[in-house]
Amino acid sequence: MKINFDKQVDRVGTDSAKWDIPCSKYGSDIIPLSVADMDLPAPQEVIEVLNKRNQLGVYGYTIIPDDYYSVVTAYFKRHYAYDVSPEEIVFCPRIIQAISIYIREFTTEHDTICLFTPSYSPILNAVLLNNRKLSQCPLVYQNQEYHIDFEKLEACFSCSDVFILISPHNPTGLVFTIQDLNRIASLAKKHNVFIISDDIHADFDFSGEKHHIISSVSNYVKENSIICTSPSKTFNLAGLEISNLIIHNQTIRHKFNRLLQQLGFHNPNYFAIPAIKTAYQNCDLWLHELQKYIFKNKRLVKCFFAEHIPELEVVNTTGTYLLWVNYSRLGIDEQRLKYWLLHLSKIEMSWGSDFGEEGNTFFRMNIAVPAPCLIACLDRMKQGFILLKKEGLYYATQRHGN
Ligand SMILES: Cc1ncc(COP(=O)(O)O)c(C=O)c1O
Repeated sequence: MKINFDKQVDRVGTDSAKWDIPCSKYGSDIIPLSVADMDLPAPQEVIEVLNKRNQLGVYGYTIIPDDYYSVVTAYFKRHYAYDVSPEEIVFCPRIIQAISIYIREFTTEHDTICLFTPSYSPILNAVLLNNRKLSQCPLVYQNQEYHIDFEKLEACFSCSDVFILISPHNPTGLVFTIQDLNRIASLAKKHNVFIISDDIHADFDFSGEKHHIISSVSNYVKENSIICTSPSKTFNLAGLEISNLIIHNQTIRHKFNRLLQQLGFHNPNYFAIPAIKTAYQNCDLWLHELQKYIFKNKRLVKCFFAEHIPELEVVNTTGTYLLWVNYSRLGIDEQRLKYWLLHLSKIEMSWGSDFGEEGNTFFRMNIAVPAPCLIACLDRMKQGFILLKKEGLYYATQRHGN
């Protein structure tokens, strides 16, 4: 099966968070490579099933049908070799809601929550806006790669109650090895730390292995964790608000389900159930093609930078469709980077400082776009860079003698 992902979809004017905000700020010729959804349509099978529902023209209340949970667990078994029983799945519209509910209802203002930094900012905010103490464990960047400083992690765990893992990691794209997960799990057990693992990017793991869910490595973690999963990144369904939590611990699960009821989360949106059932049951081949396409896009960017802007360093990680790019060798600050990319090149990225202090000198680039669009963006970057030099706003090349 060959799927054509090259076609551009015009999303301007659809109230798209990715397109309509930058278009209104910087003009309609801007191309955003920022917000983490894809400019690639969902599988045709999903589109057709939703079209059928749409044609009814009645958007009434929905239920979660009995077979829903076994569709979800079968997907986990096939894709992550993970065994979970249907009753251990909890539907919650969005992952950030689930994380915030846990923080608000299972912890107090005296509790400390640990995170790897840099970090996806809504998760940082879920901790800070709910007035919990934040313990930051910076990932170590060395030779274009990231790794965990386990000594630092242990020091953080010794005074933390909860650890929020993003696996694979956003923004760095780091895929945690089974050895990493084992060490995190044993430190969590030693210091009695509860784990929330956000596995929303699980299906974009290009390490060649199946994605490992941290609760698969430890009984302690199994009983003391919430694993957050979603089809939203994988099948480009973020606007349909579907996520599934794995909560093995019965007491925590019952409490969580009750909280969802108390907060009024009861019906999924009208399109959610048919979309995920179709995606999880019938679209494995589509996903395989998508993964190959994104992998090729990644190679394309790396080769382009190596040839035309070698100072840009794409961090060597194997997860997500987001590239984390270090621009420190350019010797410019974020303001000048934005001038180059937003104003001279007309491209929006996610800016490193939005991911915390460790994000400085990095930007995040979303490559889940049609390849012709990506090539156009790279060319704009190159042309903008020439202008930046012409305007006398970039001197590092002279210093490097290029
Ligand atoms: C790591 C991570 N978690 C959660 C989300 C958002 O999930 P939701 O929209 O279900 O809250 C994103 C979106 O980019 C993400 O990257």
